[in-house]
Amino acid sequence: MLAGLREVLDPAVDAGTGVGAFNIICLEHAEAVIWGAEAADVPVVLQVSENAVLYHRSLEPILIATVALARNADVPAVVHLDHVTDPDLVRAGVELGATSVMFDGSRRSYEENVAVTADVVRYCHARNVQVEAELGEVGGKDGVHSSTARTRPDDATAFVDDTEVDALAVAVGSSHAMTERTTKLDLELVGRLRDAVDVPLVLHGSSGVPDDELVRAISAGLTKINIGTHLNATLTRGVRHQLEDQPRLVDPRKYLGPARDDVATEVERLLRLLSKAT
Ligand code: G3H
Ligand code: ZN
Repeated sequence: MLAGLREVLDPAVDAGTGVGAFNIICLEHAEAVIWGAEAADVPVVLQVSENAVLYHRSLEPILIATVALARNADVPAVVHLDHVTDPDLVRAGVELGATSVMFDGSRRSYEENVAVTADVVRYCHARNVQVEAELGEVGGKDGVHSSTARTRPDDATAFVDDTEVDALAVAVGSSHAMTERTTKLDLELVGRLRDAVDVPLVLHGSSGVPDDELVRAISAGLTKINIGTHLNATLTRGVRHQLEDQPRLVDPRKYLGPARDDVATEVERLLRLLSKAT
């Protein structure tokens, strides 16, 4: 069933567990994420990024399909717009049924980020949609890896108070689009951020973070765990194996289907890990 962001994050905060949030690029991702969540029997977040929308050249088909899959799911499923920098895209996504939005003003000045994010929050809250925002830019979105950015707890307190966001993405040592799972997080900072703000904290760039470090990060106070690249690697590895084994294949269902099953299995495994972490 289609769920709101805080509906799935608040119980996890209370339980000291995590919620997996997976990036959706194509229909097979969305199906695999729902199937994995149903197998693990836990809530999940499906997130469609502004970059995925640019890839499709349109928001409607991928978002409407994702909303339909979430509505039909046996578990609570949030449909979230990810890393949106254009407020017009927020409005379009909310009209199409997204229940949650990450507005990314992290490349703006602090003052501008506060002003634009607060506007987005007013628009979304009037429509019962929740908003995540980012403070302290998590690097790697442009292919340049930097894990040195840090969110200052005092800034986080002020930002949440000034914008009234429902969840906060923080920079604590991760970087986007990592293909090696070698990241060490600043867990001491996670604890101080947890004490400084009263909304759930979000980890971006979680593909580079090994399983045991994800568990420690949740114990330290992170709740929403965003994973994109790792699932892409799983899907692509599956397709590659199928095509290498059967070079004469032409029906995409024959190589996408098994790769989609691999993604569902990995989503199930990750959700079991995140939802049991304490
Ligand atoms: O917003 C999306 C996430 O931060 C995913 O990052 O592709 O590095 O796992 P990742
Ligand atoms: Zn991200």
